[in-house]
Amino acid sequence: RSLLRNELPDAEVMVVSNREPYIHNMESDQITVQRPASGLVTALEPIMRACGGTWIAHGSGSADQLKVDSSDRLGVPPEKPSYTLRRVWLSDAEQDGYYYGFANEGMWPLCHIAFVRPNFRTSDWEHYVAVNRKFADAVVAEARTSNPIVLVQDYHFALLPRMVRERLPDATIVTFWHIPWPNAEVFSICPWKEEILSGLLGSSILGFHTQFHCLNFVESVDRFMECQIDREHSTVSASSGTTLVRPYPISIEWPPAALAGQPPVKECGDLVRKKYGLKADVRIAVGVERFDYTKGIADRFRAVESLLENHPEWIGHFTLVQVAAPTRSRLPAYRDTQVEAETLVQSINARFGRDDWQPIILAATHHEPDAVFTLFRSADLCMVSSLHDGMNLVAKEFVAARDDDDGVLILSTFAGASRELHEALIVNPYDIHAMGEALHIGLSMPDDQRRDRMRLMREMVGEHNIYFWAGRMLLDAARIRKRRHIERQIA
Ligand code: G6P
Repeated sequence: RSLLRNELPDAEVMVVSNREPYIHNMESDQITVQRPASGLVTALEPIMRACGGTWIAHGSGSADQLKVDSSDRLGVPPEKPSYTLRRVWLSDAEQDGYYYGFANEGMWPLCHIAFVRPNFRTSDWEHYVAVNRKFADAVVAEARTSNPIVLVQDYHFALLPRMVRERLPDATIVTFWHIPWPNAEVFSICPWKEEILSGLLGSSILGFHTQFHCLNFVESVDRFMECQIDREHSTVSASSGTTLVRPYPISIEWPPAALAGQPPVKECGDLVRKKYGLKADVRIAVGVERFDYTKGIADRFRAVESLLENHPEWIGHFTLVQVAAPTRSRLPAYRDTQVEAETLVQSINARFGRDDWQPIILAATHHEPDAVFTLFRSADLCMVSSLHDGMNLVAKEFVAARDDDDGVLILSTFAGASRELHEALIVNPYDIHAMGEALHIGLSMPDDQRRDRMRLMREMVGEHNIYFWAGRMLLDAARIRKRRHIERQIA
């Protein structure tokens, strides 16, 4: 907040994302508010709570669809409003084409190496263009000033930066891409690659989690666009202006809001054991994510099987509690992922389980942040085995939840978080045997080593928290604004 006040006085902050931070649902004649399972929302929401401003997002809850509560603007968070949520309504056809189709069957598999084939359909693309325009219209309509700072989020809005730039030329457009960017050869299969690149180059700043993804983006631009690349200063200049392309590894609120009010770690353990019927001598591992094929959930289950095969001393003494929120279930690849995982759990539990103990407990429902934090605090170990992930905030949330300095993190080398959390047990999620061994090593790790590792990870996340992330982006934005101001004075 003080950075905004000092460096960006009077700046108007707007966020654009597909997913809204508070989803309003209708349950037994009552409106309930749900916090979505989205790394993007986890990261951005505390920033908006601190800075205020307007967050433009798709109104997606069942209460909205039933038109029970269809006001465009709401003050949020509901209990203590500090910013405005402006909802954009989409028709079923728009939602199918733009969200399920182009964004999640095209861009999502294109950008993640998970060996799921992207599908590009012209009708999806047309909806994607139209919905980007609809959100750009909302930005222009909501802007109170001619030069707002517009924080554009993710692969749903690759075209919006240019659309906004054309209508608000003085806006500072900061786009953050929350998922990986593929290499130029992979990217070239997208039939609308030039449009996507040109859309993104409407941004003043384009951020990725890692330098590697910045380089992939710049390489794609180099191959497919007419523009000037200044590798020393990480800028790309096209006809629409100059874009700074930099890594800004995203993070979480520190301390996280969900930690307040948590019972002591011992009590969390008791609560979780009671809930899942786990005996006192059973060690607990947790996994928390959306049921997405990029998260490597089935491979994690195979690793549990490998642990029990190779280290039978853990039979009866180890359980993985896996929370997996159903997601994008209208798409076959997502339904298949869930079915594969459920079938695997059944077969592993049938092979090793007993009447009073199961190696894997799968809770395939949405859990609110408080429940997730209680689970994190109850666990000996947290497993993040993404096949590919921009950052993965579950890894950072687990670390943040452990104010007792305990707990082991097993982390995929293909998650951006592995570039920062060096004290995790880093694994290749395609190597099932090695993941099973990592489980054994984690469960057998001496107390002092566990604590040393956790302390270092907590220092890292505590320091490089979400305010640090936003601060670095906003400082770069402030510099760009000052430079423009000076350029205009000279002109
Ligand atoms: C990833 C994306 C986010 C998205 C989240 C949840 O983290 O980067 O943009 O919000 O997944 O997915 P959903 O489709 O439910 O919003």
